[in-house]
Order: sequence, then structure tokens, then C-alpha cells
Amino acid sequence: MKKVAIVGAGQVAEKVHAAYYRTKPEEFILAAVVDPDLARGVLFCQNNQFKNAYTTIEEMLTKENPDIVSICTPNRFHYDSVMSVLEAGCSVFCEKPPAMTSIEAKNMWKLAEEKEAILAYDFQHRYSPEAKMLKENIALLGDIYYSEANALRRSGVPGWGNFIDKELQGGGPLIDYGIHMLDTALYLLDFPTINAVSAYQYQKIGPKKNQGTFGTWDPAKYTVEDSLFGTIEFKNGGILRINTSFALNIQPEKELDIQLCGDQAGANLYPGKIYTDQAGELKIIKQIDVAENNNHFTSIDNFYRKVIGDPQAVTADGRQGYIIQRVIEALYQSAETGGKVEL
Ligand SMILES: NC(=O)c1ccc[n+]([C@@H]2O[C@H](COP(=O)([O-])OP(=O)(O)OC[C@H]3O[C@@H](n4cnc5c(N)ncnc54)[C@H](O)[C@@H]3O)[C@@H](O)[C@H]2O)c1
Repeated sequence: MKKVAIVGAGQVAEKVHAAYYRTKPEEFILAAVVDPDLARGVLFCQNNQFKNAYTTIEEMLTKENPDIVSICTPNRFHYDSVMSVLEAGCSVFCEKPPAMTSIEAKNMWKLAEEKEAILAYDFQHRYSPEAKMLKENIALLGDIYYSEANALRRSGVPGWGNFIDKELQGGGPLIDYGIHMLDTALYLLDFPTINAVSAYQYQKIGPKKNQGTFGTWDPAKYTVEDSLFGTIEFKNGGILRINTSFALNIQPEKELDIQLCGDQAGANLYPGKIYTDQAGELKIIKQIDVAENNNHFTSIDNFYRKVIGDPQAVTADGRQGYIIQRVIEALYQSAETGGKVEL
């Protein structure tokens, strides 16, 4: 059995990580949780059948010596947490985004390699049945030269947590929400080599309004972008556009999708569909109807299967985490400086 600890006793730790580990009582010992807020940690243990609460990772590692650790802290603390548990020789499943900077993400990747430890990130959309169908049939598209990753909300500034605080989050919709579609698009395209990125970002609505579909926020504390539009240029000549917003005056309440355009066919992620044009008529080649699926559980399950040596397991590993973080950083850099950033 594997001894499990969770760092950060918040909502994703409870709804996703603890919920998954609890589905396999014959495989996991629910040993410990770490949270600087001890009362929160104790309550988490009571509600989720974990044994002990700690306020520091160091004490937890010394006393529990876990095999597997989930990192569910706010973004700013991912790096220190992951580095500590990797140093202790644990396998690590870290929430997205990997870190705050690409240097941090690179150090995490390199330390995992040095320790021969499994490090994986929770990018759950690549585990959706729709993504699986597209991945298995990607050759039908031919040469994919134009793609879009869209993660847009008309009025979805989160009214809870740290999402509008650049210091704690590292950014707004791009690092929080757009990153999911970015990961899935790069995964579907097989992480092509990137030449350069460019982006524009705006902060037009967050500091002016205070209410939307995700609750209320303090406009005076709004320090992140509320929309960003970027272009990623690949060495193979193709481009990926990324469009993401917490708030943007668009007609739909939200849009979460990937569009892939090849010279043989096109595809969308949500709903999962591959199609082409036949003499001006749309011809559906493949589609998948998904009622409901717990992509998060599939994501953690792939991490766990990797830990136990299943060669079929697919994870967003340290290297891919670094690439994604590097792209995010370059998009922000381009948006701030107004120039193209070569990678
Ligand atoms: N994959 C997804 O779709 C998804 C969804 C939600 C959240 N997340 C990610 O999960 C992480 C946590 O988000 P959340 O919504 O659960 O936040 P949350 O605010 O509900 O919980 C964070 C918890 O971490 C604790 N904490 C703060 N500093 C800590 C430290 N140094 N060490 C240990 N614990 C610390 C806080 O006290 C709090 O209990 C974020 O990185 C977020 O991006 C991912």
C-alpha cells in the first residue's frame, strides 16, 4: 500500500485529491495533511478520513515518510512544496500551474529526474473522452497548421480564493484557466517545437466592475489581466492562437474549446468532433457524445499508475510542465513588452 499525504487542505484537495484516494482503500493509506491553518487541517482530516494534520511539510515528512504527496497549495507555494517532497524521495502530483516561473518549473523537472521520482501535474482536460478520441484519430486531420485554444468567460471573475491577486497567482485567466486548453492543445499536437510567442493583454473590466457569474470581488484588489490573446508559432510553420478571459464582452457566458484545422479535416474538443468539407457541405467523420466523466480522477489515476510502473500511463510530466510554464511566461512577457518573444 502507498502512504499518501496532501499539502494544502482547500477545496481542490478535498473534492479531487482526497476524493480519489478514498476510492481505493486497498491501495492507499490516508496518512496526513499539511496546512498552515491547523484548524483547517484538522477539519479536513475529520471530513476526509485522513489521519494526522501538520502545519509544516518538514514535520510531516519526518514523521510520516509518505510515498505519494499531492500539492494543492495556492500557486506561489507549489515550487517550495514540490522541491521539499522531491528531496524526500516522494512521488508528487502537483496542481496546475506547475509554478510561478519557468526557472522554478525547470528546477522541479530536473530534481525529479535526479531523484528518479515521478512528478506529474493535474491538467485534467487532456484525460477527457473527447481528447482521447481526438488523440487516437489525429492523423485524420492531415497537416495541422492552424489551431485555437479558447478559455473565455463573459463575466467569470472568481469571487473567492486568490484569483485576482497577481502576487499569489502569477496572473489571471491565462495561468488559471487558459492553461488547461493550452496544455490539451499542445498534448493533441504532440508538443511541437516552439519558435516564438506574442500576446496582447487587457485589464479593462476587473478594476471597474465587482459582480459576475462567479460572485463578487473587490475592484481595488484586481491586479491580474482580465483577458489575453496570444499566438504561438511552431517550428513546423503552424500556429496556435490562445484566447482567454475572466471578463470580456462576448455573447456566450463561456467558451471552453480547442479548434484544430488540418489540410484533410478539422476538429473540436468540446463537443468532440472531427469533420471535413465535401463540395461545400459539412461532413462529420467522427464524433463522441459524453454524458459525464470525472477527468480529474482519470488524471490522478494515470499518475498513480505511473508510480506503480504501468507503461500505459500518460502524465503531464516535469518536462511538459516546464514547456507549458515557459509558454505562459513568454506570453505574459510579450504582452508586457509589446514584442515577440523567441523561445
Ligand atoms: N486542476 C484544476 O482544475 C484546479 C481546480 C481548482 C484549483 N486548482 C489549483 O489548486 C490549487 C489550490 O486551489 P484551491 O482552489 O484548492 O485553493 P484553496 O484556497 O481552497 O486552498 C488552498 C489551501 O492551501 C493552504 N495553504 C496556503 N499556503 C500553504 C502552504 N505554504 N503550505 C500548505 N498549505 C498552504 C491554505 O490554507 C488553503 O487551505 C491552486 O494552485 C489552483 O490553481 C486546480
